[in-house]
Amino acid sequence: MPLHLGDTAPDFTTETSTGPIAFHDWAGDEWVVFFSHPADFTPVCTTELGRVSQLQAEWDKRGVKPIALSVDTNEEHAQWIPDINEYNNTTVEYPIIADPDKKVAELYDMIHPGEGDTSSVRSVFVIDPDKKIRLTMTYPKSTGRNFDEILRVIDALQEADRGECATGVDWQPGDKVIVPPEVPTAEAKEKFDDVEEHYSYLRTARVKADAAGTGAVGCG
Ligand code: BEZ
Repeated sequence: MPLHLGDTAPDFTTETSTGPIAFHDWAGDEWVVFFSHPADFTPVCTTELGRVSQLQAEWDKRGVKPIALSVDTNEEHAQWIPDINEYNNTTVEYPIIADPDKKVAELYDMIHPGEGDTSSVRSVFVIDPDKKIRLTMTYPKSTGRNFDEILRVIDALQEADRGECATGVDWQPGDKVIVPPEVPTAEAKEKFDDVEEHYSYLRTARVKADAAGTGAVGCG
C-alpha cells in the first residue's frame, strides 16, 4: 500500500543503533525526518548520514528528530558509524534502524524492485507531531539528497501551519507567504500583514507575529 500525504505514519517496533524503539512513542510530540539509505559501507550513504548528523543543531532548532533505516544489522551499523563520523568530522547521535528482515522498509514501501529488490531506495518521510505524513520524497540509489532542502520544506510547513497559508517557489524564512485562494482579500487583510493582490488568485502577505494557526492548509 503506498503511503500518501495526510496519512498517519504507520507505527512499528524495531531495533536501532541506539536501542529498541516503538516508533510513535519515540517520536513523541516532535516532527520526524524518517529516511532510508540503500546500504551501510557505501559511499553516497556515508556522505548523507554524515550530513544529517552535521545538521543536528538545525533539526533541534525546529523540533525535528532524524531517524535513518537500512536493511543492514545493528552490528553492521556499529561497525560503519565510526567511518561516517571520521569522514564527515561529526558524531552520529540519531538512531539508525536495523531492518534486515525488511519489515519496516516494506511497511513504508522503501524497496523499489526496479532499483534492486535487496535494499531500500533513498526515501524520505517528514512526519508532523500528529503523526501525519507531510512530505514524501524518493531518490535513486545513485543520487545523494540535499538535506538543506528538507530543512527548507520543514520551515515552510511550520510557517504554513502557523499562518494558515502556503509558500511559493524557493520560499525561505522571512519571505512573504501566499494567501490561500479560498480566503477573500478583505478577510486576508485582517488576518495577514502587508497583503498585496497581484491577481485575484495570487496574494502575497506576511504572517502576523502572533499567529498560531490550527493546522495544515491546502492550496487548490
Ligand atoms: C552509495 O551509497 O554509494 C550507493 C549505494 C547503493 C547503490 C549506489 C550507490
